[in-house]
Amino acid sequence: MPPAKVQTGDEAGIARASNLIRQGDLVAIPTETVYGLAGDATNDLAIARIYEAKARPRFNPLIVHVLDRDAAATHAVLSENAERLAARFWPGPLTLVLQRRTDCRVSRLASAGLDTIAMRAPAHPVARAVLQKSGVPLAAPSANPAGRLSPTEAAHVAAMLGDRVALILDGGPCRYGIESTVIDVSGGDAALLRVGAIAADEIETHLGQRLAAPGSGPARSPGMQLRHYAPHIPIRIDVDRVAPTEALLAFGPNPLVGAAVTLNLSPSGNATEAAANLFAMLHRLDDPRFSGIAVMPIPERGLGAAIRDRLRRAVQADDDAQHPD
Ligand code: TXA
Ligand code: MG
Repeated sequence: MPPAKVQTGDEAGIARASNLIRQGDLVAIPTETVYGLAGDATNDLAIARIYEAKARPRFNPLIVHVLDRDAAATHAVLSENAERLAARFWPGPLTLVLQRRTDCRVSRLASAGLDTIAMRAPAHPVARAVLQKSGVPLAAPSANPAGRLSPTEAAHVAAMLGDRVALILDGGPCRYGIESTVIDVSGGDAALLRVGAIAADEIETHLGQRLAAPGSGPARSPGMQLRHYAPHIPIRIDVDRVAPTEALLAFGPNPLVGAAVTLNLSPSGNATEAAANLFAMLHRLDDPRFSGIAVMPIPERGLGAAIRDRLRRAVQADDDAQHPD
């Protein structure tokens, strides 16, 4: 008998998975590369739950899965290189990093606050059926806790994340067994960000150009590549007072009083809810009408650690901007 949470990726399994995903739950799904921990990419809370389940110490952006090029184009801008690669390698194990459209409905948390979004159209019939049936783009990192091996069978997921997902769809062993190749085609020269199931030279041949190597050149260093969103106005964290000119990002049942405007990450003090709201609320408060954003203390537990990591970087970016060397 398979564990209760594992279900065959047949019509009934796919229907159940799609319903769970539409209601914001997480489902492990097979893809041709590795099993993915999938949630509705347009649902901030579902995305927060993915980070929580993986116990990633910080918000690394996730891959968003769609059926095809046209679905991708509703969320992101496809550059000329992107069009060529999508036409040749989708559906398949190639992930393209693209500029988010301004009207992009995918959670900002899935992009970890970046202006770019990583997308791929998977080839696995079960993954495609779930995309079709659920009707939503699926954020899906590999279905392993941070620091563990990527799962290539349903049983691997059950062993590592069984208690953190609503359902594991069994689609048999993954054909490639390694993750997709990630290429940045968001602007300028195409760059290789992660080696994976499609060889880089096959991509170079198809594009007729060399790929910038991972981490090569100043604009491609990992730090720059993943340069995260920092508000344009100053930001202070762990505040216990707020000025009348400041915007307050509150947390918990007792927000400070006296700010120009207040948004509360989680009135009940729930870190997962706070993570779901973090980037959207930072964007709303990042307005030159305010002298700065003041953020109340958020405890380290659960996703609190990743939120604090993110806020510390925003403060750091702010310091760097004011004291350039
Ligand atoms: O094969 C795969 O790609 C699997 C299956 C499930 O599709 N997924 C996967 O996702 O490996 P994940 O989240 O484990 O890997 C995401 C990779 C990371 O290296 C991340 O840094 C990069 O994609 N990435 C995502 N969004 C990005 C962005 N906006 N800019 C640069 N890199 C990004
Ligand atoms: Mg991974």
